[in-house]
Amino acid sequence: MGEVLNLSEAAAFIRVSAKTLGDLARAGKVPGQKVGREWRFSRSALERWLSGGTSSAAYAGNTDPGGVRASGVREPDVQYALPFAGFRDTAFTENRDRALHRWVPWIAGYSCAFVDDAIRKVADGRRPLTILDPFAGVGTTLIESLKHGHNAVGFEINPYAALACRTKVGAADYDVAGLRAKAAEYAREVSARIRSGSAVPVSAPPPGFVSRAPFFSPAVERQVLLTLDFIRAETEGWMSDVFRTALGSVMVSFSNYSYEPSLGTRAGANKPNILDADVVAVLRRKLDEMCEDIRIFAEQVNGFEPRPTAALHPVSYFDGAGRIAPGSVDLLVTSPPYLNNYHYIRNTRPHMFWLDMIAAPSELKAMEQKSFGQFWQTVRSGPEIPLVVDHPELRALLATLRRRNREKGPYGGEGWANYAAAYFNDCDRFCETTLRLMAPGGTVVVVIGNNILQGVEFATDRFLAELAQARGFEVVEMHEVRRKRTGNSIVNSSVRVGTVQRKTRLYETAVELRAPAFTIRAESNRPRGV
Ligand SMILES: C[S@@+](CC[C@H](N)C(=O)[O-])C[C@H]1O[C@@H](n2cnc3c(N)ncnc32)[C@H](O)[C@@H]1O
Repeated sequence: MGEVLNLSEAAAFIRVSAKTLGDLARAGKVPGQKVGREWRFSRSALERWLSGGTSSAAYAGNTDPGGVRASGVREPDVQYALPFAGFRDTAFTENRDRALHRWVPWIAGYSCAFVDDAIRKVADGRRPLTILDPFAGVGTTLIESLKHGHNAVGFEINPYAALACRTKVGAADYDVAGLRAKAAEYAREVSARIRSGSAVPVSAPPPGFVSRAPFFSPAVERQVLLTLDFIRAETEGWMSDVFRTALGSVMVSFSNYSYEPSLGTRAGANKPNILDADVVAVLRRKLDEMCEDIRIFAEQVNGFEPRPTAALHPVSYFDGAGRIAPGSVDLLVTSPPYLNNYHYIRNTRPHMFWLDMIAAPSELKAMEQKSFGQFWQTVRSGPEIPLVVDHPELRALLATLRRRNREKGPYGGEGWANYAAAYFNDCDRFCETTLRLMAPGGTVVVVIGNNILQGVEFATDRFLAELAQARGFEVVEMHEVRRKRTGNSIVNSSVRVGTVQRKTRLYETAVELRAPAFTIRAESNRPRGV
């Protein structure tokens, strides 16, 4: 019997009927994964579950009500995904019906189920560990760490993702009754002002925000501004954070923009503009969902003694890593930006401007330059960016890329090679920084995919593993956690070269690394973690 089992094989394995196992899996009481219409089970995950290593409560998130659909942000080309080596599927779609994780859909966020597996595998009953996510996104790793009773620390450079992450990790302390009352007050008061027709919002559209098409239609914009009046009058910090996170989560849905998967005008995607919408009802629904989730999360976290803590630093990992005690991190689970130039910053410009996080476009520039790998737009036209790491294969591949489509200047190989060089330099910086922070023998799990730029394939996962090894990590295993439909080689490059007909398989790997067993530490009883 192999590692991946179908329903009847898994039922035979744990000696129950297929119906019983199907019922348990649907209720989220055993670890399993729906692949199309079929269930798949990982034998080792079932073994852990049988031996009591995985409590049934861990999967109870499956039964959370509702589910928020992300605004079309998923990659369309996923063909199938199987749980490999005990890790469940990394796709964020998993999170859309899970308490807390469903608050904000985040492109390239990974699944809470995957993080859950990574934590179980490494913790093996030990608690509390210190768990770090240097590219925290909307906090999937931090939330799962807290749910397991571990202390969590994260870094996130994008202010909207950082807000969402901070708001979520603090949720166990929120006054749900107070939030429910505030949501009801919002619905009552703002609906009345909207209806009155004569109410003029105090808030104004952010002056620094320039968009190709009006972001909101006039009728929607008035409702958003009256909503902002209400939120800005709120003096309680956490309450304001919850409302702002909620508004950010739903605002694109009633705007004239959509995710395809990047943010673009609805008109450009052949969709009609949203001329009017019931903003209050949409936001109220979101807030109600959040109230429900806060209650569930508080129950999960409050039972632990000591109570786990979390800290989110809204700065670049490379700038902020000094805030973490060297040698203090037991487990790092993360997914850095991929080498696919997905522009997190451009795609959240509306959130940052409308929610008062930035006032001028110039503020975006600094953020782009500090982002992992920067972006193609940031580095394509500058002088040649040298690869600073000693890796002959990578160096040769970059030279090949640099020669592609020379006539296109920064839009050809030159520009993309600059981007790739900046990216791999940051991979190395990540390994160097992380090595300092890891406890002796600590585990690092990095989810990363391969990429194709101008027809040149980069085995980004393998290169990252090799750079880590050169810095002193042991490569424990390369778990292939996701396969996607084969794509042709122009995928992920915004310039269509059309010269390469070869089909290339896209995949995602969880690169598992182990820090050296002995690290040189300045003092022996340094304070731990956060
Ligand atoms: C693949 S996403 C991580 C998503 C996360 N795993 C989740 O489930 O929400 C990568 C994240 O890294 C952030 N990021 C990029 N450069 C960064 C840096 N230098 N320091 C901290 N965060 C950074 C991006 O804003 C993005 O949210």
